Amino acid sequence: MAMLNGLTETQTSRKTERTFPPVAMPSLEYTPEVAAETADVYEKVKHIIPAIEWPAYAPYISAINKLKKERNAVILAHNYMTPEIFHGVADIMGDSLQLAKEAAKSEADVIVQCGVHFMAETSKLLNPDKTILIPDMDAGCSLAESITAEDVRGLRAKYPGVPIVTYVNTSAAVKAECDICCTSSNAVAVVESMGSDRVLLIPDQYLAKNVAAQTDVEILTWAGACEVHERFTGTEMREYRESDPGVKIIAHPECPPDVVAEADFTGSTAGMIDWVKTNLPEKVLLVTECSMADNIASETPSVNYVRPCNLCPHMKRITLPKILDSLIHMRDAVTVDPAIAQKARRSVERMINLQS
Ligand code: 13P
Ligand code: SF4
Repeated sequence: MAMLNGLTETQTSRKTERTFPPVAMPSLEYTPEVAAETADVYEKVKHIIPAIEWPAYAPYISAINKLKKERNAVILAHNYMTPEIFHGVADIMGDSLQLAKEAAKSEADVIVQCGVHFMAETSKLLNPDKTILIPDMDAGCSLAESITAEDVRGLRAKYPGVPIVTYVNTSAAVKAECDICCTSSNAVAVVESMGSDRVLLIPDQYLAKNVAAQTDVEILTWAGACEVHERFTGTEMREYRESDPGVKIIAHPECPPDVVAEADFTGSTAGMIDWVKTNLPEKVLLVTECSMADNIASETPSVNYVRPCNLCPHMKRITLPKILDSLIHMRDAVTVDPAIAQKARRSVERMINLQS
């Protein structure tokens, strides 16, 4: 793939386009005031963060929440963020589709995207005049890195007339070459909206196969995969089921089809959370990134989570110290080449408009 100093085609900016007044480094002392301010957050994360470690997190949470107001910033956090980010500083939490929709509606001057680069880029496409910060510019995604704009042009030439649907986990340059975007929560509807017997759904081969199982549309795909979800296997699922027949298996559609075949429910991260909150199973296996279970455990105390812990190393690059640094120095700002942005925005807006 086209890499520039280790960055993808559109990850080229480390500078903010607007000037913001400087702010002083806040105190990071664990005072009684900080303890009181963050007590409600600690209640939500105490099952996962030992009390002895809280003084290391709480001052960051307090400082970030104050600075957010000063900068008129909003923090959008993906469901895979760690619990201290998810419960401590996020204003909006959700799956890729929810975050894109919230970004489109946002009235803040600044969006801090706690997630991976393609999510921040999607926010920038929908808010070209806003400052979109990502606390770590190197938070990538194995799916986004599996395909380039040139690859898509090659597919277009090979399959003339076949609509190309791209998963939102791609660069803006790739989105610009495609007809429409989709996320894990709307992939079947988007594919069927193309009005074609044959559709290219790229770059996740497993999402494509899982969608193909739910539609009569012929699906062609690309050989990309999520490095977190592709590690789960059907055999592993059957072993969990044999050792505990009562366990409910809830899988993300980026998992291989033999994993999905063993699942009681398959859906986006938000769909998985809703399923657990609605059904309150006694025991559940969330076949996805492991922060999800940590994040919803406090709201679902009756549910026992079986934890096959696969971490997304890219999502885990986002930390409280980096979020604070981001708001102090207003970096790293995400930019997209205007010529690419115009075409990529069309793909994202077409998806959003389809269902609103
Ligand atoms: P969701 O849209 O389901 O949150 O998925 C995003 C993602 O990157 C999952 O790996
Ligand atoms: Fe990409 Fe997989 Fe990480 Fe999601 S979990 S950001 S798809 S590598």
